[in-house]
Amino acid sequence: CAAAVLVARQQMKGSGKWAKAEAILRELEDECWASTSKLRQVADAMAEEMHAGLASDGGSKLKMLISYIDKLPKGDENGVFYALDLGGTNFRVMRVQLGGKEGVINKESDQVSIPPHLMVGSSHELFDFIAAALAKFIAKEGEDFNLPHGRKRELGFTFSFPVRQLSLASGTLIKWTKGFFIEDAVGQDIVEELKKAMERVGLDMSVTALINDTVGTLARGKYNNPNVIAAVILGTGTNAAYVEKIHAIPKWQGPTPKSGETVINMEWGSFRSSHLPLTEYDQSLDSESLNPGEQIFEKIISGMYLGEIVRRVLYRMAKEASFFGDTIPPNLKIPFILRTPVVSAMHHDISPDLKVVGSKLNDILEVPDSSLEMRKTIVEICDIVASRGARLAAAGIVGILKKLGRDPVKEGEKQQRSVIALDGGLFEHYTKFRNCLESALKELLGEAADNIVVELSNDGSGIGAALLAASHSQYLQVQES
Ligand code: GLC
Repeated sequence: CAAAVLVARQQMKGSGKWAKAEAILRELEDECWASTSKLRQVADAMAEEMHAGLASDGGSKLKMLISYIDKLPKGDENGVFYALDLGGTNFRVMRVQLGGKEGVINKESDQVSIPPHLMVGSSHELFDFIAAALAKFIAKEGEDFNLPHGRKRELGFTFSFPVRQLSLASGTLIKWTKGFFIEDAVGQDIVEELKKAMERVGLDMSVTALINDTVGTLARGKYNNPNVIAAVILGTGTNAAYVEKIHAIPKWQGPTPKSGETVINMEWGSFRSSHLPLTEYDQSLDSESLNPGEQIFEKIISGMYLGEIVRRVLYRMAKEASFFGDTIPPNLKIPFILRTPVVSAMHHDISPDLKVVGSKLNDILEVPDSSLEMRKTIVEICDIVASRGARLAAAGIVGILKKLGRDPVKEGEKQQRSVIALDGGLFEHYTKFRNCLESALKELLGEAADNIVVELSNDGSGIGAALLAASHSQYLQVQES
């Protein structure tokens, strides 16, 4: 995946003006490079931390949060269920109609972007906003929409932040990630906050399950393919969840569910290890972030940060190597101005004169006259930064496989097929990121790669939540008993 890497450098050679820029680029490349052996060390460290996090709360940087999901949807769920999806800059409300063996027969949804002030305001304001959007959505159902007699609307609430669950449908927020920072919500039961806000707008609904987006993606993936064992989100943030045996969770308390299994939300974004290839750009990004010292794995992999890392590299080049001429483009000083979709667009530019890169530089950084050499250097920076993220994500996946004993193949044992459900914009839309992740997996897994598949599993945080509300439905349980 570093195929484009040397081309730009060849062009730059010989020009004294570029010497400093090239030195910065070479240093970036060296520091970001995650060799196969380094990736193996990361995978081993991930597996080790998984064990430690399962042993006790606080035993590891990996929280290994228990979801209390003990019935993943089987594919015969029936009825209408609702989902709320909060976890990024957009918030969604969804209604899903499940038709037993026919699967998802119908779905409707509304999406609203969360005003930035609500991401750093008060809990009350955020949940009022959510409840109002939900009420508006329900109001559109009209009078002819009927649920079976005596049945309340049931909701799966995807809340994609670290939550210590107290039960399937309650849990306290441990901390915010991904640019949210609402202090008075930390330590609160998120479902209680939602219920209070629903009461304020006069909505009467049951919250059947509180889940993480990784858990929804796992449910959604397994609904389509029973070989799914884990789910990974590569979007604004990054995280993974997988199915674990209760006897492998020393910190589990209480009775063992019938299935003998539950889903663990790893919160792998907070993983860190001395094997991670970190740079000065990562260090400054981290120390200036809302959550310094936290979510280090996330800060070098996920969509919220890739563009910002690229901006920091360019800023240093502008300052120390006059990369953009005598002055630093003022917009380059604005944190988060380079978003990851822009990085992706520049990285995929195949026009001979790198037109897309030129127009992004013009539109965003107000650099109207970039040379081809400058554009090539920028593509190279995008490649280095995205490849590091993709390779580390692959190492994380191998860590899970190791923990589950699915890698390497044991002598004389037939290897089980393992499917990892993937979702998130980085995986879905950033083709080079995805290709790089897939080839790093092959590099790490060797022969075992034939039985390990990564599969796009769309919309786990919406449909997955509705599916889990269905498989844990209070109404259906009453019917069964
Ligand atoms: C962040 C959140 C985590 C979520 C992930 C992907 O890492 O802490 O809960 O799953 O982003 O959205």
